Amino acid sequence: MPDAPQIAQKNPYKVELVEGKTYFWCACGRSANQPFCDGSHKVTTLTPVKFTAEASKAAFLCGCKHTANQPFCDGTHKTL
Ligand code: FES
Ligand code: FES
Repeated sequence: MPDAPQIAQKNPYKVELVEGKTYFWCACGRSANQPFCDGSHKVTTLTPVKFTAEASKAAFLCGCKHTANQPFCDGTHKTL
């Protein structure tokens, strides 16, 4: 089973988060519902990252899946 993520895209996804809502960010890069998990990670050793929005605001979630600050983009995509 693959244990490395696929690059979904080499840019973050801008999403409007809702305060108090829980999300599952796709860590494997295989979801068809980026940047969120759709269960496609089952063919890998990876699992989604669960997080709760602290405020209702726009956020940039990592699309390259190589960020060191999951689930948020930290600029690592520029090095890929
Ligand atoms: Fe990628 Fe679930 S589909 S982590
Ligand atoms: Fe992954 Fe920016 S999209 S670090």
